[in-house]
Amino acid sequence: MGILIEENETVFHLQTERTSYIMAVKNGKHLAHVYWGKRIHTPDISHVLLMGGTCFDVMEPIERDGDESCSLNNLRQEYPTGGDGDYRVPALDVEYADGSRSCPLYYCGYRITEGKGKPEGLPAIYAGENEAQTLEISLSDEMKGLQVYLIYSVLEKADAIVRSVRIENHGKEPVRLHKVMSASVDFEQGGMDMLCLPGAWGRERHIERVRLHHGECRIGSSRGASSHQMNPFLAVMEPCADECHGNVYSMNLVYSGNFMAGTEVEQLNQLRFYMGLGDDSFSWILDPSEGFAAPEAVMVFSDRGLGEMSRIYHRLYRRHLVRGRYRDEARPVLANNWEATYFDFDEEKIVSLADEAAGLGIELLVLDDGWFGKREDDRSSLGDWYANTKKLPNGLKGLADKVVNAGVKFGLWLEPEMVSADSDLYRAHPDWCLHVEGRRRSECRNQLTLDLSRKDVCDWLIETVHGILGSAPISYIKWDMNRHMSNAGSAQLPAERQKEVPHRYMLGLYRVLEEITTRHPDVLFESCSGGGGRFDPGMLHYMPQTWTSDDTDPVERLFIQYGTSIAYPVSAMGAHVSASPNHQSGRETSLKMRGDVAMSGNFGYELDLNAFTEEEKKEVREQISKYKEIRSLVMNGDMYRLSSPFDGNTVAWMYVSREQTEFFFAFFRIQAEVNAPVSRVRLQGIQPDIIYLWEETGSCYRGDELMEIGLVMDVAGDYQSITGHFKKIRE
Ligand code: GLA
Repeated sequence: MGILIEENETVFHLQTERTSYIMAVKNGKHLAHVYWGKRIHTPDISHVLLMGGTCFDVMEPIERDGDESCSLNNLRQEYPTGGDGDYRVPALDVEYADGSRSCPLYYCGYRITEGKGKPEGLPAIYAGENEAQTLEISLSDEMKGLQVYLIYSVLEKADAIVRSVRIENHGKEPVRLHKVMSASVDFEQGGMDMLCLPGAWGRERHIERVRLHHGECRIGSSRGASSHQMNPFLAVMEPCADECHGNVYSMNLVYSGNFMAGTEVEQLNQLRFYMGLGDDSFSWILDPSEGFAAPEAVMVFSDRGLGEMSRIYHRLYRRHLVRGRYRDEARPVLANNWEATYFDFDEEKIVSLADEAAGLGIELLVLDDGWFGKREDDRSSLGDWYANTKKLPNGLKGLADKVVNAGVKFGLWLEPEMVSADSDLYRAHPDWCLHVEGRRRSECRNQLTLDLSRKDVCDWLIETVHGILGSAPISYIKWDMNRHMSNAGSAQLPAERQKEVPHRYMLGLYRVLEEITTRHPDVLFESCSGGGGRFDPGMLHYMPQTWTSDDTDPVERLFIQYGTSIAYPVSAMGAHVSASPNHQSGRETSLKMRGDVAMSGNFGYELDLNAFTEEEKKEVREQISKYKEIRSLVMNGDMYRLSSPFDGNTVAWMYVSREQTEFFFAFFRIQAEVNAPVSRVRLQGIQPDIIYLWEETGSCYRGDELMEIGLVMDVAGDYQSITGHFKKIRE
């Protein structure tokens, strides 16, 4: 049972295998938050939920016998609003037609359903009828006719709770939504740390952990994308919590656009933790009879540190977020021509890469940017999605047929959401891009963003991409998006709705993606945004993998892939071996190091395959066959992070099969150390009594020895790696 209703239907207890989440209705009207943490029995609410007030607190009136005195500013609230004496950050901020912002929400009732629904038009976690239960609690501001539904889906086995919110205007006048959090949780104790995943282009999802202070700590994106700069993931954790121990509470938004998340520690050290849509770039007018669905926030609690939290996310996203054929099927080893040729290629060159790829054991060749319109650099042709006949005289089909004949599948890069000012599309439809009438149309990478808040633009996009996919044997699409929004206005919306554009854009994009991926179920889609600028659960719902970063330097990638694994599974990360010296950092590293880092991801090559020496080709063939052997283990195994690049000079992680009979281990040392202390890595997550054979060395170890004593990592020099595929030989 995932949902227990107790004490005359006033206590709601959500239970997963290891978590309890408890709410209670107080004084017949206030929905209070009681507890989120390790699974417990239903407690006596009266001693857990302290509500009284202090000086300067606005008190709620006592309306009936038995009501307790209560100040909203002290009450741990489940979905707080402002204007009525709670001075903390509200989860919902609305403006009524009379200009008032006060929005008291009182409890109305609840409903339980088997399984799990999805917010209209948005990506979502999915689950079968016997895999989840959903509780919908309704609250209302009766005077104005505003109805708010708090939706909680409990995935008991997956150990996760998914929250979202639906708002309905049953009043007679429009309501303006300024801010809609998908989840907000109040804790009694604020002495916690916060962990987030900030970054930049080429440096995505680094780990930052800070002690919470009084007042607000806020993260978010107003770039029109979830962004390189801040991922829509946030955790609060006990200061003593680490990779393996302690309580961690986290949220991840299933959304790819603007978001905000944060914490507030208030006067009594209580902590509010929230995530959702909002900030300066959002507002939404809800007309009478209309509803608004907020994106889902996935909530994961772990009492065994960050490592267990990550594994819960990984399993959940692999089974309940990513869809389609490639959820379960092995992803092909690919070669991408971007860092091999950039814009400088023709049919002959691409076919020669395909020939070489096939000989090496690569399964898919991806033709990146520059194949369309008259594109020779990044200054033109986005939107003109027909072959550049100078480079591809036989068109896309002519090239794709030759690639397939060479023995590899054919994949293609597209940047469908964009338009170049120098394009036939822009000349025909100058109002199809985001812009503010009369102002300069600000460009980034010489391009403008198509206005996907418009239905006609989305319809055109669906048919265009559908047309390309039907025109040639295309097995894979890299769906790129290379700029953030500016002048985010739409020619089709009235003045008062212009702030709806970023969210309407996301709804348009999601409709396009749903339609295209449904029409082309056999195509593998990889999302990309200048690398990992839209690495979020929203995109993963449509596309099972994301290009993790434009930075392909293996040392930099250790940080990026380690940070990304905090919330996302390795099966979501694209990782390629590129040239040395690396094109972004200039660093020289061995082919081995580059291969070993990329194997912890969807493996591929992004360099001139024709430039390999015979010796290198041999090594590459070996890398590919090794990857094919461990591919399913890396993709589906439980990941244990053993040593963090953010803490020192070494990195180690491992992937363990469900039955714990097999695992793959990878260790990296970044800089050489002279006269260094013994470097020993203790493994995790395996069976103490099993004897494992390290295939590459022929040595055997018992699980308890590997976990308690560990393996000595004996390497010399900069940028070194050791990997091992271990298999059970006996108990
Ligand atoms: C983005 C992508 C790269 C490449 C280029 C092509 O930067 O992240 O991998 O596809 O675009 O222009």
